[in-house]
Amino acid sequence: MKRLQDKLDQLKEAGLYRRLRSMSSASGPRVQVDGRSLVMCASNNYLGLVDDERMRAAAVDAIARYGTGASGSRLITGTTELHLQLESALAELKHTEAALVFNTGYMANLAALSCLVGTEDVIFSDELNHASIIDGCRQSKASVVVYRHNDMDDLRRKLEDTPVSGERLIVTDGVFSMGGDLANLPAIADLADSYGACVMVDDAHATGVLGEHGGGTADYYGIPAERIAVQVGTLSKAIGAEGGFIAGARVLIDYLVNCARPFVFSTALSPPVLAAALRAIEIIQTEGGRRHRLHALTKQLRRGLVSEGFEVPPGEAPIIPVILGDPLQTLKFCRRLEAGGVFATAIRHPTVPSGTSRIRLTLMATHSDEDLDQIIVACKTAGRGLGVIS
Ligand SMILES: Cc1ncc(COP(=O)(O)O)c(C=O)c1O
Repeated sequence: MKRLQDKLDQLKEAGLYRRLRSMSSASGPRVQVDGRSLVMCASNNYLGLVDDERMRAAAVDAIARYGTGASGSRLITGTTELHLQLESALAELKHTEAALVFNTGYMANLAALSCLVGTEDVIFSDELNHASIIDGCRQSKASVVVYRHNDMDDLRRKLEDTPVSGERLIVTDGVFSMGGDLANLPAIADLADSYGACVMVDDAHATGVLGEHGGGTADYYGIPAERIAVQVGTLSKAIGAEGGFIAGARVLIDYLVNCARPFVFSTALSPPVLAAALRAIEIIQTEGGRRHRLHALTKQLRRGLVSEGFEVPPGEAPIIPVILGDPLQTLKFCRRLEAGGVFATAIRHPTVPSGTSRIRLTLMATHSDEDLDQIIVACKTAGRGLGVIS
């Protein structure tokens, strides 16, 4: 125990210690934290569906009909008609033949990378991919080659120079979770064609957010689904529920059903979660106005921060990083935002590379113009107080 305490003390000194904060309200545009109402600026509830009345009603109805739990793994007793309906809806959203639901997006990435490639194969992975992709690569028996972030010349060089006796798989986040930038998917798909590779995209932050009907990164770029062999997503962000999924060809999904250990050996998702996700997909496909509002707010916040003197990397996603570098400075910034009535999180190593600690501001379609003004004012006050802007 002393060893653990020493390690925790070191983390505290370096500004890398984490603690849990609890909310006493839904994760909507305003949340109750420690008795205060704060503007939520750190949630992945991009479309504001978590506290949508229709989602709540769908979950309640599902409990009334099916009860609270699935009570078994999918291949034993855990598959309800809701699982199959949700999988059809996800396949439609992603324009694929089929889809398969997992208990989390994290497990979907582990499943794909540990089960679809093996010892003869090579995974080419962007250096800023999400931790669940990195962990999937670690669990996989394939070799892993990491290419520089979104650097297509480096990817091409590595595809060219790496001897491969089996398959090549290029894996990337669609929208990078901590930077909000998009993968250069058209170039990746072209490189994949040139080198006979398959592409896997983790669209955790793009599903529901990008594309005319919320289909994600491939949809946004107009890339046909057949060119992206494996589309991973989560039900826990814009979809406002919980769980993950993989969409792709029928044969891919059949293979995962038979061979993906995170799918086979875990109890299925519960009915209320599935029913809420199903309702969310209908809303995503029919209420484009939510996406438009989200993108308008994102542009407004980016413009507002830049006009106050912040350096904000360009991007389209509702994830706006304010990079401060030092973790202790980032924590101070975060506390000042909270003093200004805004809840945001300090993102530090190992979530992002050392020296790139940041405040990750995220928006939701249900933020009001007043919420947005409050976020900008709080950033300005914190930035000036700490000498980040003049
Ligand atoms: C890019 C990315 N992939 C996967 C995940 C994991 O998804 P889940 O929270 O559903 O496990 C996350 C975040 O949680 C993520 O940001």
